[in-house]
Amino acid sequence: MCGTGRFLLPLLEEGFDVHGFDASDHMLQSLHAKSKAKNLEPTVWKGFVEDLNRPEKYNLIFIPSGSFCLIINPVQVEKWLQVIYDHLTDCGIFLFETETMQAAPQTGIWRGSLWPKKIVKKLS
Ligand SMILES: C[S@@+](CC[C@H](N)C(=O)[O-])C[C@H]1O[C@@H](n2cnc3c(N)ncnc32)[C@H](O)[C@@H]1O
Repeated sequence: MCGTGRFLLPLLEEGFDVHGFDASDHMLQSLHAKSKAKNLEPTVWKGFVEDLNRPEKYNLIFIPSGSFCLIINPVQVEKWLQVIYDHLTDCGIFLFETETMQAAPQTGIWRGSLWPKKIVKKLS
């Protein structure tokens, strides 16, 4: 779920040995374009979390920015957790962010952003 490499590429630039994968060709194309511009050669592949079956074990697996919440079926969640567990070293860490109903502000007021088309046009 590395997407366009928003987190992966800066980590690679910092010298971390980091691997990534994503289910989307488009996201990976964007990642490769950014890598090329930065002269980076990331180890990334197209794949789904549920199908992950690598020989490597990782000290850290992370899924940032609530991407873990894209899966809402409890059976699938369990499958993902098992797959991730199986790819961690004995002392490995799984780091992920979730958004829960408990974390949502209970103000009764919508707190999103509204972007009228005119403003979006001005920015682009
Ligand atoms: C909202 S994007 C976030 C990407 C990245 N985590 C970030 O914060 O920049 C979610 C990504 O998850 C990927 N994705 C969704 N379901 C997936 C799955 N089952 N296995 C692998 N990647 C998946 C999508 O293709 C997309 O690139």
